[in-house]
Amino acid sequence: MTTHLRPAHPSDLDALCQLELDCFDGDRFSRRQLAHLLKGANAVNLIAVADDGTLLGYGTLLLRRNSRQARLYSFCVRPLARGDGLGRRLLEALEAEARHRDLAAITLEVRADNRVALGLYRRAGYQLVRWLDDYYIDGCAAWQMQKRLGAEVREVG
Ligand SMILES: CC(C)(COP(=O)(O)OP(=O)(O)OC[C@H]1O[C@@H](n2cnc3c(N)ncnc32)[C@H](O)[C@@H]1OP(=O)(O)O)[C@@H](O)C(=O)NCCC(=O)NCCS
Repeated sequence: MTTHLRPAHPSDLDALCQLELDCFDGDRFSRRQLAHLLKGANAVNLIAVADDGTLLGYGTLLLRRNSRQARLYSFCVRPLARGDGLGRRLLEALEAEARHRDLAAITLEVRADNRVALGLYRRAGYQLVRWLDDYYIDGCAAWQMQKRLGAEVREVG
């Protein structure tokens, strides 16, 4: 099965709401928040779709006027599709979108107990910036992380 990435459209709203339910235990976006993100000119929403049309994951970058920093606002892969490189692929595609817009860095917050996401971000070049105590609704702390986006360096030969 192949998976392709594409920008999300307003017609993806129902599938995105279901994906949020499947991916997060709490602290998830409401339908209204997702609808707002899909309409917003200040967000980049990429989705990963399987051959049969199933939505497998999505990621959102928030952009700010007069700022060269983007924020990774939401990012998830459906449980059955995890561990197969899709998270990494989505993240790289979002970084490419940010570079294309001439942005200088991406920041994000991640739960301190989210071992898989922390590992993925660290291996993708994100650095720990700040510890944020009591950041989530359940009291869990967060790490703020950042990656500076230079030109992509590719090995030759
Ligand atoms: C974080 C998340 C998006 C990763 O998606 P994914 O498709 O599984 O990611 P990948 O398959 O690209 O794996 C990324 C890395 O994590 C590792 N990994 C994946 N699942 C793992 C697991 N269960 N245990 C340990 N390592 C794991 C992979 O080996 C890979 O390492 P590599 O970069 O050295 O190759 C996914 O787990 C998810 O949606 N989690 C719930 C929502 C969430 O936490 N979002 C992030 C909020 S900040």
